[in-house]
Amino acid sequence: MDNVRLLTSLVLLSTIILSPGRNGSAAAADQCLACHQSLGERPSSLFKHDVHFEKGISCADCHGGNPKAAEMEKAMDTTAGFLKVPKGDAISRTCARCHADSARMKDFGSSLPTNQWALLQRSVHGGLATSGAEHIAQCTSCHGAHGIFPKTNPRSSVYPLNVVKTCTGCHANAALMRTYNPSLAVDQLEKYRTSVHGMRNAKGDIKTAECASCHGSHGILPPTDVNSRVYRANIPNTCAGCHSNAAYMKGYNIPTDQAERFERSVHGVALLQKGDPGAPSCNSCHGNHGAVPPGVESISNVCGTCHALNAELFSSSPHKKAFDEQHLPECETCHENHEIKPATAAMLGGAEDAVCSQCHSPSDASGAYHSAVVMRSMVDSLKSGEDSARALVNEAEQRGMEVGDAKFKLRSVRQAWLESRTVVHSFDVNRFQKVADQGLAAALEVRREAGDAIGEYYYRRIGLGIATLILTVLAVALYLYIRRLERKPHPTSGPGRPPG
Ligand code: HEC
Ligand code: HEC
Ligand code: HEC
Ligand code: HEC
Ligand code: HEC
Ligand code: HEC
Ligand code: HEC
Ligand code: HEC
Ligand code: HEC
Ligand code: HEC
Ligand code: HEC
Repeated sequence: MDNVRLLTSLVLLSTIILSPGRNGSAAAADQCLACHQSLGERPSSLFKHDVHFEKGISCADCHGGNPKAAEMEKAMDTTAGFLKVPKGDAISRTCARCHADSARMKDFGSSLPTNQWALLQRSVHGGLATSGAEHIAQCTSCHGAHGIFPKTNPRSSVYPLNVVKTCTGCHANAALMRTYNPSLAVDQLEKYRTSVHGMRNAKGDIKTAECASCHGSHGILPPTDVNSRVYRANIPNTCAGCHSNAAYMKGYNIPTDQAERFERSVHGVALLQKGDPGAPSCNSCHGNHGAVPPGVESISNVCGTCHALNAELFSSSPHKKAFDEQHLPECETCHENHEIKPATAAMLGGAEDAVCSQCHSPSDASGAYHSAVVMRSMVDSLKSGEDSARALVNEAEQRGMEVGDAKFKLRSVRQAWLESRTVVHSFDVNRFQKVADQGLAAALEVRREAGDAIGEYYYRRIGLGIATLILTVLAVALYLYIRRLERKPHPTSGPGRPPG
């Protein structure tokens, strides 16, 4: 230690002796820089290229002290305002003295935003560090202290090609990250490198997505925060910032309609309009950091994370092998990828608009076309069987008959129909027929029960009618009889009465 002091003192001495700044015009020069440069240390050599240096800002603007004093003791006198090396939150506060003060920034001729400190404090990085005494990230965590460049300068630590290194300096450091949040993944860098974004970034493409293009920079929030750029429902917008911008994406030769079409899809409506927590967002299919389109042979796995049964059936169906061999994108071939519409029976069968007829025709050597037609007719009879059974149940109910049991059975007809829509993915007529037959049998039973109830109703109506008729006849007869009795000549009546 003493040796170092001695050495610096010697260097210092020579500097002071050799320094041209001791007299005349150079007195105005930055003595801090002049002396420190001669010490040959990093801060001053970096600072020579720093954006702040270019703006005429001195070491003293951040560290305090007197930049005009050539002697070390005077220049770095704490009683004269020298702040030493800022630590913890004092670092960001140092930067905020200018960067959060728009008037001061204007004085330097700058019109940069002045919200970085405010945003940073509210961000996930504004949480308390493990020391408990300061925020997790200071301005210097991402920008450094002395070699600061405008973000458009390739030497800047936040230039698109350097951001990844800057963020993953912490985020790929498992030991560091564990001290904060042991459950937080540290594989972002690893995955990002395998993505189209990461591979292009590594090759020097500054337009592709890096950490800050998806997460933002100063106001980064956890994905669970509804204001986060990577909150599920906000992700389509975040990706669309580039992917729906045709001018920006010009030259990449990929479509720019993914977000637009996704918003119209059954998934987009569920996510963005119904707020369905189970609905997918862009990252459900593309991954968070490994944003690659799923390969044609793995699409069913992606969809299968939610539609497990469909994927399972598809994988053991004759289509799996046939599609993979022809490089057809599995589920996407029939359902699309971004603009997935509600599935209907119209997709099935031999009609022109059915998806099956895109590949199968009556002249097919295999039984595929025939199977499609048969399956469609089964769905149709299942639907019409359900409809007519439901109509009968309703009629019986309206007539006040007890139909609880039939109504319950009606549910199993619907269940069979729903199941058939999934089982269709086996593309196996026999298997499909088993499900359809169960539904048809149940529909038949419901119709019988409801029919019986309606029959019973009429039976009771007729019974009631006959009973009413008999009673009416009896009543009329009784009436006539009474009248008759009344009309009989009274034994005490006068002789003038004509004989009856
Ligand atoms: C005449 C030479 C000289 C001048 C002028 C000078 N310094 Fe220093 N400074 C040094 C030396 C030598 C050291 C290292 C000695 C030490 O560690 O005490 C040092 C250390 C520092 C440190 C590190 C302090 C620490 O606690 O580690 C800072 C910050 C600093 N100087 C900033 C400044 C600023 C700001 C100015 C102008 C206001 C300035 N210096 C002017 C020679 C100088
Ligand atoms: C934009 C503000 C700013 C300017 C201008 C600035 N510094 Fe610093 N400096 C800092 C901050 C913040 C730290 C501590 C942050 C860190 O740990 O990296 C620091 C740390 C230091 C240190 C000690 C740690 C190290 O990296 O060795 C020295 C010495 C130092 N500065 C010298 C200087 C000198 C000399 C100048 C002018 C040539 C200068 N600084 C200009 C902000 C600044
Ligand atoms: C987590 C990393 C991170 C931290 C911490 C951080 N920045 Fe940044 N900063 C960035 C990135 C990335 C960019 C460039 C991308 C952009 O413009 O959003 C940037 C851009 C900037 C810019 C350029 C203008 C602008 O707003 O786009 C300024 C000025 C700036 N930061 C100042 C600061 C200040 C002051 C602090 C501390 C209060 C700070 N930054 C903290 C990552 C960070
Ligand atoms: C004395 C005032 C002042 C202090 C203190 C200061 N800055 Fe600056 N900073 C500026 C000015 C002025 C610019 C140039 C703005 C421009 O070009 O529009 C600038 C530019 C920057 C830029 C480049 C922005 C861009 O992309 O164009 C970054 C990043 C930055 N500062 C970060 C910091 C950090 C980090 C600190 C603290 C360690 C800090 N500044 C301290 C005044 C200051
Ligand atoms: C100084 C180290 C450091 C740097 C640099 C840093 N981070 Fe972080 N970041 C953290 C820590 C620590 C956490 C965890 C906070 C917690 O959960 O308590 C975190 C949290 C996050 C989270 C939220 C994770 C979650 O699920 O809660 C995101 C997103 C994030 N950082 C992105 C970035 C990006 C993007 C950059 C670069 C622009 C970056 N970070 C730079 C340390 C850092
Ligand atoms: C293409 C956009 C995109 C890019 C590029 C990107 N992220 Fe993410 N990031 C996301 C999405 C989306 C999520 C997760 C949202 C969720 O969990 O629902 C996420 C989550 C995170 C998380 C939380 C933990 C986790 O892994 O789920 C961290 C930390 C993080 N990102 C850091 C980074 C870092 C560091 C980089 C740069 C190497 C980066 N991200 C690049 C989109 C991106
Ligand atoms: C900063 C702009 C930007 C953002 C934000 C962005 N991307 Fe990209 N993305 C690109 C560029 C540029 C390409 C390269 C296109 C190419 O090479 O075909 C690309 C490529 C892709 C690819 C590969 C396309 C292919 O077939 O080559 C996928 C998938 C992708 N992005 C998905 C996403 C998703 C999902 C998000 C949001 C979580 C997202 N991107 C956010 C710019 C961006
Ligand atoms: C339900 C799953 C799913 C969702 C949700 C999804 N994608 Fe895709 N995406 C795919 C599939 C599958 C492909 C095509 C893979 C193939 O055919 O090789 C694809 C392809 C892409 C491509 C490559 C170019 C193209 O159009 O073929 C980009 C870029 C892309 N998606 C971006 C997005 C964005 C942005 C979102 C959110 C708005 C999104 N995706 C939502 C499944 C999905
Ligand atoms: C994150 C989970 C998830 C992923 C991944 C997913 N889906 Fe979905 N999907 C859903 C949800 C939830 C619904 C129901 C939306 C609604 O109707 O409200 C749905 C609905 C559907 C429908 C309409 C169903 C109907 O009853 O009409 C089809 C078709 C569909 N998805 C196909 C796919 C395909 C193909 C893929 C892969 C490219 C896929 N899904 C990926 C969750 C997912
Ligand atoms: C050969 C064409 C074809 C392929 C390939 C295909 N489907 Fe289907 N999908 C259909 C048909 C036909 C229906 C039923 C329509 C109806 O009867 O309502 C359907 C219905 C659906 C439904 C709604 C019924 C339900 O089960 O909830 C979902 C979800 C679905 N498919 C997902 C997928 C997934 C995931 C894949 C890939 C593993 C896939 N489909 C592959 C043709 C296909
Ligand atoms: C993209 C083209 C394509 C579409 C769309 C398609 N198939 Fe196929 N299908 C094939 C191919 C290829 C085979 C295997 C070769 C063959 O047997 O004809 C096959 C085989 C079958 C088989 C097995 C035939 C057997 O006897 O082995 C059935 C059943 C079948 N498809 C039904 C359907 C139904 C139902 C639909 C509509 C929901 C449909 N396919 C849509 C291409 C398609």
